[in-house]
Amino acid sequence: MEHSADLQVILTKDGSYSLYSPHFDQFYHSIHGSLQESLHIYIDLGLRRFKGPETQPLRIFEMGFGTGLNALLTLQWAHQHQRSVQYVCVEAYPLLPQTVEALHYENLTGQPGLQLLQEAAWGVPLPVSPLFEFTKIATRLQDFTWNEAFFDVIYFDAFAPRVQPELWTHEIFAQVAAFTATGGNLVTYCAKSIVQRALRQAGFVVEKHPGPHGKRHVLRGIKG
Ligand SMILES: C[S@@+](CC[C@H](N)C(=O)[O-])C[C@H]1O[C@@H](n2cnc3c(N)ncnc32)[C@H](O)[C@@H]1O
Repeated sequence: MEHSADLQVILTKDGSYSLYSPHFDQFYHSIHGSLQESLHIYIDLGLRRFKGPETQPLRIFEMGFGTGLNALLTLQWAHQHQRSVQYVCVEAYPLLPQTVEALHYENLTGQPGLQLLQEAAWGVPLPVSPLFEFTKIATRLQDFTWNEAFFDVIYFDAFAPRVQPELWTHEIFAQVAAFTATGGNLVTYCAKSIVQRALRQAGFVVEKHPGPHGKRHVLRGIKG
């Protein structure tokens, strides 16, 4: 189920590219800056400031692989910090590799490997480097299961509740909580009160944090 035909490349305000989906009427990242958003929410709040138990490897789950920017920045972080990472992500509407090439994320980040991530076989763990094992699964989050409370950090990067209300519910967050380790963190760009409420109902302790430029707050939920 590919979703590339109608996508448009856009330039965001920090000089990095992103995509606009007319189908969802949504951008893949903040128009104020895709790079600064990914670094601020997922790498800084999600990884650098992760206070949970130190597992080796650190287990990361991403909802919505999309362009692969978060995965690429996580690969870079793993090498910079010599941390071993097991990365699992889901994607319901995969992009064509050539769509992602047009975003020049390897030049932007100085990190090679995006093509490997984009072209990885679905559902097969890929040792991208000795520090980074990567698995992407072609499925809807709603259909994804994992048989234990496993992941330390969850990057929750769905399209906005306005267009995907079904992904920001108490039921979905309870499903995610079931495969999140105790003390694990879920980070997301959306700080709406309905999202905070749904996270709390699913057993996360919710913190509001300052957002990247152009966004007042983002959320971190800690699984109790
Ligand atoms: C806001 S974009 C973020 C993409 C990605 N994290 C990035 O940095 O490019 C949301 C992503 O979630 C995917 N998606 C939408 N609905 C989904 C679902 N039900 N299950 C899994 N992925 C979904 C979209 O195709 C898109 O790639």
